[in-house]
Amino acid sequence: MTQPLHIVILAAGKGTRMYSKMPKVLHEIGGEPMVARVIDTAKSLNPQSICVVIGHGKEQVLDKVKRDVVWVEQTEQLGTGHAVKMALPHLPKEGRTLVLYGDVPLTDTATLEALLEAAGDEVGLLTDVLDNPTGYGRIIRESEKVVAIVEEKDADAAQKAVKETNTGILVLPNAKLEGWLGSLSSNNAQGEYYLTDLIALANSDGIAVHPVQVRASHLAAGVNNKVQLAELERIFQTEQAQELLRAGVTLRDPARFDLRGRLKHGQDVVIDVNVVIEGDVELGDDVEIGANCMIKNAKIGAGTKIAPFTTLEDCEIGASAAIGPYARLRPGAKLADEVHIGNFVEVKNTSMGRGSKANHLTYLGDAEIGRKTNIGAGTITANYDGVNKYKTVIGDEVRIGSDTVLVAPVTVGNRVTTGAGSTITKNCADGELVLARARQTVIQGWVRPEKENKN
Ligand code: UD1
Ligand code: CA
Repeated sequence: MTQPLHIVILAAGKGTRMYSKMPKVLHEIGGEPMVARVIDTAKSLNPQSICVVIGHGKEQVLDKVKRDVVWVEQTEQLGTGHAVKMALPHLPKEGRTLVLYGDVPLTDTATLEALLEAAGDEVGLLTDVLDNPTGYGRIIRESEKVVAIVEEKDADAAQKAVKETNTGILVLPNAKLEGWLGSLSSNNAQGEYYLTDLIALANSDGIAVHPVQVRASHLAAGVNNKVQLAELERIFQTEQAQELLRAGVTLRDPARFDLRGRLKHGQDVVIDVNVVIEGDVELGDDVEIGANCMIKNAKIGAGTKIAPFTTLEDCEIGASAAIGPYARLRPGAKLADEVHIGNFVEVKNTSMGRGSKANHLTYLGDAEIGRKTNIGAGTITANYDGVNKYKTVIGDEVRIGSDTVLVAPVTVGNRVTTGAGSTITKNCADGELVLARARQTVIQGWVRPEKENKN
């Protein structure tokens, strides 16, 4: 039986080199704050508890990361050993504690499971081997046995030549934790309490240290600046794109596709270049997404085509619909099957029934539109008087003429036809032809002024 697991995530640092008002761990990978990703990975191990040590920008972290964990404050950043010490009151004397980092976002469950497995009841240490180990703690071995970690700034020339490095991730027996942390000193080059000194302490206590090397460096890579953030983002996006390709999605160019959330998809989905998907998106069979679309929290039915430069947010589209190019569906747009939305059409909090169309230059807000209705070019639902929003109801098989303004609240019955250029302010009964525009008049005998000697 393995012992109960506790996890401590260090996230108190400022991240000076990010040059940001936001604490480092809130910077995002795949649209999710790094520390939120680390918490979710930690949860995948089913630990008994998770403590997150925060300091710099703690209000911002608490505000943004809504996760059920124990938040622990470290008011002064006196080193990684000191940070873990802040979590001690929340750790029982039995079991073991895994230490993770809020700025190491891509560690996966498999890596951590392998580390826990290797550690058993003793100490486990995740290591890497780097061509250029500058800046990292070096793993010091004596005839294979790991006996210590020496930080770059405290290392002599021989130690600096070691390419085996400390990723920082380690697992420790709780029974020893309080004693070891209590005996740390800050008598070193940085004047900090180093968590890494626990390796030498374990060694002198006769507790074995089990090193596990990561499969790939990015799994334990930390983010200190925007260059590293961008590098890890690319790795993350590449992995997601490969997974979608393997699952049968056609990505015209996997290097020009970004998923910042979760994508559910049917068969034969085709996504062209420069598409950004955010939140929760669901694409039915045979959906095609054109180039340069932004899609956030949307559900799109089978066979629907989204043409280039379309923006979709918090909306639902049925099957066999055609949207765009240059369309904008805003929150609450709910389009049934076979609806067509064309260029420069904005739809907000509006439902459209099966087969209805708005093909050009139109604003539909707070409207309820029936089946097989055609909305002419340049139609506007005037839904807002500057204070309140009102509803427009349009029936089935209606033909709204071009350049119609529908002044809400207003109801247009089934099979109504409105003349082009009408301003509709009163309800229209079923089947009516409604005209509400100035009549064209001709001034008889009018002579157009002309310049003299005009050639
Ligand atoms: C640490 C390791 C080093 C390892 C490297 C890997 C120590 C002493 N050294 O060095 O061996 O190779 O990580 O990246 O552990 N933090 C706090 N409170 C503190 C200090 C740090 O929360 O008081 C957090 C930081 O926000 C950061 C993490 O712990 O996320 C690592 O701290 P940092 O000071 O960057 O350690 P390194 O010098 O990189
Ligand atoms: Ca670091």
